[in-house]
Amino acid sequence: MEKIVKYIENEEKRYLSELIDFLKIPSISSLPEHNGDMLKCAEWLSDNIKAAGFEDVQIISTAGHPLVYAEWLGAGKGAATVLVYGHYDVKPVDPLDLWDSPPFEPAIRDGKIYGRGTSDDKGQAFCHVKGLEALFRQNGKLPVNVKLLIEGEEECGGENLVKFINENAEMLKCDTVLISDTEWFDDGLPSICYSLRGIAFVEVHITGPNRDVHSGTYGGAIDNPINILCWMISKLKDQYGRITIPGFYDDVLELTDKERIGFKELPFNIKAYKHGLGINFVHGEMGYTTLERSTARPSLDVNGIKGGFQGGGAKTIIPSQASAKISMRLVPNQRADDITEKITAYLKTIAPQTVSIRVEPLHGGNPVLVSQDSKGVRAAINAIKKAFGKEPAFTREGGSIPIVELFSEVLNARVVLMALGLPDDNIHSPNEKLDLKNFYGGIKASAHFFEEMGKL
Ligand code: BES
Ligand code: MN
Ligand code: MN
Repeated sequence: MEKIVKYIENEEKRYLSELIDFLKIPSISSLPEHNGDMLKCAEWLSDNIKAAGFEDVQIISTAGHPLVYAEWLGAGKGAATVLVYGHYDVKPVDPLDLWDSPPFEPAIRDGKIYGRGTSDDKGQAFCHVKGLEALFRQNGKLPVNVKLLIEGEEECGGENLVKFINENAEMLKCDTVLISDTEWFDDGLPSICYSLRGIAFVEVHITGPNRDVHSGTYGGAIDNPINILCWMISKLKDQYGRITIPGFYDDVLELTDKERIGFKELPFNIKAYKHGLGINFVHGEMGYTTLERSTARPSLDVNGIKGGFQGGGAKTIIPSQASAKISMRLVPNQRADDITEKITAYLKTIAPQTVSIRVEPLHGGNPVLVSQDSKGVRAAINAIKKAFGKEPAFTREGGSIPIVELFSEVLNARVVLMALGLPDDNIHSPNEKLDLKNFYGGIKASAHFFEEMGKL
């Protein structure tokens, strides 16, 4: 491995310039005007993976954005098979004026590379492409069989990968799924994540009168969809931060005492947390710490709200319509479909007869809890120690990667969430970045991971 590590160190400049080319393609999956960029990005990635040493690389079209798939099965039937998953799509960039440099013109400042997708997930996924390339170039082969699946619809809740996995379970068959699409607990504290929250997302539409009407003529005599919507939203949580939807907590798996002790041992600094957000107080479910609330307890948030007059000055109306986008982060063993049904039923029950209501499901993904002691996890621990010189912590994360559940269920594989990002990477925010020491270290960690898998 020494020679591979040396090789990786010598190639840093090229890795960075390739990453920059990858980042320059504005692969925003949720905006139709970027459909051409999605294809361009898939093509760029496929060419890069080919150059890395995979002969068998395909761009697989779906009803949505294409998948990039490659495999190398030269280690033979007796050897382990690792499926590496990542996503090349990114979130939209607005508000643009808050970026210190343009999101698709990657810039390096202070040992970090800034741009959309640097951390989530182009940069992290690219570490594996380069780690595998280093193994190919130095050894002419890989220590295990490798399948590489990089999708383009993670950020837009795309259902096409679900269909693809269900229909191609045989082709994707593997023992271990390796994913780097999460964050370290802190700078200097690498992490392996063992649980991700799921998500249920709905949009509630409330309709009152058949048009916006004069609030002097009608005010006091008919109901107002915005007032009603706000009242309904206020009924979703109580004063203790508990969600009041009937049955919402039925399937919530409580944290074990061991986990709660583990959480307390993590170097979490509440003062820095509040300072970083510019707030004086945190808020959440009574009886749980901030770390527990944000990773191991469910949550409910209004993401956006619409309705009525939004222009300058006063316009006196009672609006015809109001709507709100509501997301709930779910924890094991809640199910997205069940929670979507429960919130829908509850909203319909409390909605007064004075308005009509429609609840539209937008997306869903189930939470996951993965083994902390699989072959892949052991390989990841060793890889992290070798690449970063630190023992990784085991963490839960509050974010969601909906497809992970399917890897365990349909492929029956053990999932390893080997984080390469940092908690201050500003994913989904302006000034997203990746620390270059995580990028170069991540390439080494990747090479070590496959080497370790080969030994086990
Ligand atoms: N990489 C993130 C998930 C993530 C974020 C894991 C932070 C751990 C820490 C992923 O790309 C993401 O943003 N997922 C979405 C899923 C949604 C669009 C269905 C999310 O969590 O909002
Ligand atoms: Mn991601
Ligand atoms: Mn994301």
